[in-house]
Amino acid sequence: MTSSYAHAHPLPTQSPALRTLCDAMLGARGDPAAAFTALPAFRLADPAALLADLPQALRAGRAESYTRHVIFSDPQGAFTLVYLIWRPGQHSPVHGHRTWCGYRVLQGDLTETHYGWDEASETAAVCGGKVRRAGDHIAASPGLGHIHRLGNESDEVCISLHMYGVPREAIATGVNLLVTVA
Ligand SMILES: [Fe+2]
Repeated sequence: MTSSYAHAHPLPTQSPALRTLCDAMLGARGDPAAAFTALPAFRLADPAALLADLPQALRAGRAESYTRHVIFSDPQGAFTLVYLIWRPGQHSPVHGHRTWCGYRVLQGDLTETHYGWDEASETAAVCGGKVRRAGDHIAASPGLGHIHRLGNESDEVCISLHMYGVPREAIATGVNLLVTVA
């Protein structure tokens, strides 16, 4: 399944919570992968405050697939911040990662299924899972050590906030490392 963009340009970042987060990340360009997992602005900020820059009209998502809205992208390309809107039944593909990344659930429940990588067969197999709830935060490293599939298996729309270590133009091709499932 692919995801879609509803906006050609990033949303205006005006809320204090997101401006604080973006400013903190801009100040941590030297090692953004380590910085963002420790940032109180990412880990501890009120989920509702972090959701403030997503207009109500965009919070319903789309019927075709889960939807991405870029909030902010570092002009020097160190990171990009994105909202994802998941309608019930919408899932990401199974993937590892081409970059450091992480997310927080801001609204609803997001089901994360974990997969283990088998070198011999070069396939991934389910090895567990967890339901992430509003406020939960998760980080992943580049490679095949954290293969997962995210999706909404609830009856309500879920919204999550994702940070990726790529410039905005690389979101579609530079984040997910797609794998074959056993
Ligand atoms: Fe991921």
